[in-house]
Amino acid sequence: MLISETLNAAINKQIGNELENSNQYVAIASYFESEGLSILAKVYFTQAAEERDHAMRFVKFVLDAGGKVVVPAIPEPRNRFESAVEAAQTAYDSEGRTTQQIYDLVNLSTSEKNHIATNFLQWFVSEQLEEMANAEKRLVVIKRAGSNVLMVEAYLAHGE
Ligand SMILES: [Fe+2]
Ligand SMILES: [Fe+2]
Repeated sequence: MLISETLNAAINKQIGNELENSNQYVAIASYFESEGLSILAKVYFTQAAEERDHAMRFVKFVLDAGGKVVVPAIPEPRNRFESAVEAAQTAYDSEGRTTQQIYDLVNLSTSEKNHIATNFLQWFVSEQLEEMANAEKRLVVIKRAGSNVLMVEAYLAHGE
């Protein structure tokens, strides 16, 4: 086994966190779709699929490392949003939490001198830069649009 029980347990927890993020993005995308904002909805549905992919990367790593995958219970995501800003803020906040979770995993793998795990986790470190940058950009643009969220759709239609 290439990972300790402690690291295995921490990664299993992260599998749950990524699935939770996926569900959160489904809820956010559904909110936008219900508001008639299909392009924003598509952006967040795509994010939802990416988060599931992140979970699967962790699953594959645990299996490759000879560990045991235990998928944890997933908490209910936030399903109600008062505004587009609130929905985009929820996405931004969840990416912020995820970045800290990835840092904590890197800190653990580093403290255990587990280079295979640390190397594996570097992909997520780079990914979080992209995720944070995109989440912030979307939040800023939606805030700037104010009550005219349709403007954001036009902006996104020209390519993010
Ligand atoms: Fe993720
Ligand atoms: Fe993400």
